[in-house]
Amino acid sequence: MITSKELREKWIKFYESKGHVNIGAVSLIGDGTTGVMFNVAGMQPLMPYLLGKKHPAGTRLCNVQGCVRTVDIESVGDATHFTFFEMMGNWSLGDYFKKEKTAWSFELLTQVFGFDKDKICSTVFEGNESVPRDDETAELLKGLGIKPENIFYLDKSNNWWELEGTEGTPCGPDNEWFYPRHDNPCCDTCDVNCDCGRYVEIGNDVYMQYKKLAGGKYEELSSKNVDTGFGLDRLLLFLNGLTDGYKTDLFDGAIKYLEGVSGKSYDNDKNAQKAMRIIADHTRTSVMLIGDKNGIVPSNTGAGYILRRLLRRAIRYCRNLEISSEHICGVAKIFIEKVYDEAYPLLVEKEGYILDEITKECEKFEKTLASGIKEFDKCITGMERKNAFMKEKDASYVPETEISGKQAFRLYDTFGFPLELTVELANERGLTVDENGFNEAFRHHQEISKAQAAAAKGGLAEQNEMTTKYHTATHIMLAGLRKMFGDKTEQKGSNITAERMRFDFNCDHKMTEEELAELEKFVNEVIAKKLDVVKKEYAYKDAVSMGAYGVFNADSDDQVVSVYHIGDVDMQICGGPHVANTGELGTFKIKKEESSSAGVRRIKAVLQN
Ligand code: ALA
Repeated sequence: MITSKELREKWIKFYESKGHVNIGAVSLIGDGTTGVMFNVAGMQPLMPYLLGKKHPAGTRLCNVQGCVRTVDIESVGDATHFTFFEMMGNWSLGDYFKKEKTAWSFELLTQVFGFDKDKICSTVFEGNESVPRDDETAELLKGLGIKPENIFYLDKSNNWWELEGTEGTPCGPDNEWFYPRHDNPCCDTCDVNCDCGRYVEIGNDVYMQYKKLAGGKYEELSSKNVDTGFGLDRLLLFLNGLTDGYKTDLFDGAIKYLEGVSGKSYDNDKNAQKAMRIIADHTRTSVMLIGDKNGIVPSNTGAGYILRRLLRRAIRYCRNLEISSEHICGVAKIFIEKVYDEAYPLLVEKEGYILDEITKECEKFEKTLASGIKEFDKCITGMERKNAFMKEKDASYVPETEISGKQAFRLYDTFGFPLELTVELANERGLTVDENGFNEAFRHHQEISKAQAAAAKGGLAEQNEMTTKYHTATHIMLAGLRKMFGDKTEQKGSNITAERMRFDFNCDHKMTEEELAELEKFVNEVIAKKLDVVKKEYAYKDAVSMGAYGVFNADSDDQVVSVYHIGDVDMQICGGPHVANTGELGTFKIKKEESSSAGVRRIKAVLQN
């Protein structure tokens, strides 16, 4: 058995022995410069350096970096989906390239982890119209002793690595490493392309020598870089001969704890197993997000909203285990004190605070959960009464067993009950829910909200060119404030006339002269860059997971909202209107900074021609 602590250490030691400097991990929370809410890849914080900027620690770097990916929260509950994971990485910034990298990855796999070279498989890029086939890597791999029949040429969908969406990011073809779980092929053609699950991707070396441009084009970078990523959680699983991600030492303690307090068995009770996985995964990510150096707390917008969803989903699943949500703190303690204490000492330092925030959210949601359940029980009593009454009148009456869509929607709208929870409660009592009726009620509600929003917009009589400019200026200024004071900074109020803007935001101190100058400079620089202001529409949940923020309470995760993108500086959920380009704004000048109320500061500013 190799432990997570040992694996982290082996990785760092190996690359230090090859001249790399361990640069440690950065915050999990985006700093507003990359446009993403959470750090989603080990290379993300290194983007400027992969694009050519000089790194203070040199040209050979390594670390173990936490990443948070919340796009498929709903998939968590199976054996392989997680919302937090750690990426073991190493980088060459214009230093070594394919020859050294293939040799080191091979040495690591065969010497440090004991893989059999005859079983290692490797895939390389087959090439396309812009980038040639990677024969160089294939030849190097053969030279190291990998069997030619174990080397595969695959297309861009397999052997090309880039961050989704964002332009201007570094990318390139990659070399992926695979190893079989066992020696029994499922059929005659069972190889790395087979989906029987025998072959597992162990990690990959990206030869990052291109920059992604608009329109699917690529430009060669001045330096040839290497970006290596080996997922710690997955490698740990593989090295221990396991297939269930919750059986490694990362989760072992949390699962045993949940088994202990619930009296249910992880291995023998599938429902309990799913609930334990969800509680464990979501608690781990919540601990990481609250205890991060730029830690966040549950809220209704942005990253805080994702955190709230994670915690509330964990709380709901405590019900399935028939345990109090207080046990989320018990699970959190195990992660903080036993699992991540060495790799993330800050969690230990912030333990009291983390547990406090979790407890507050549990108490808050338990309250609505309790009133919602009361409301649900009322629906049932009503239905039972009606059934009894009708039966008395007519013995052939068929009793109702379905909760109406309207009732289910009320539970959703007023008590934050997701449909799945109502269905689950109904099923426990042998009842069903009219899900189509729920969807209809949902759509109806959305239409009403849209009509109301349109009416409100029409009412903005005094909208003119100047107020539009000031509105865009508030977005840029808020982006600047968030850059300076962190993502917890939110708009608390705004008042715009054709002559000036007034803007309130949370901030725990009076801004200094230097801070005001920095903010003014930031806004004027964005104006000077003449950035396009572009409106795009998204489902609310997608807007939020993309990192868009705003004071906005969506009726549902799927409600369509407009997001205004100001270059890559800002992304806000907002009804508009805005100018088309920041160049139109003139010169931004702060006139006054004062207190508005406790913890809220107010800035008055003007735009001059
Ligand atoms: N950037 C590559 C990955 O995340 C190494 O897989």
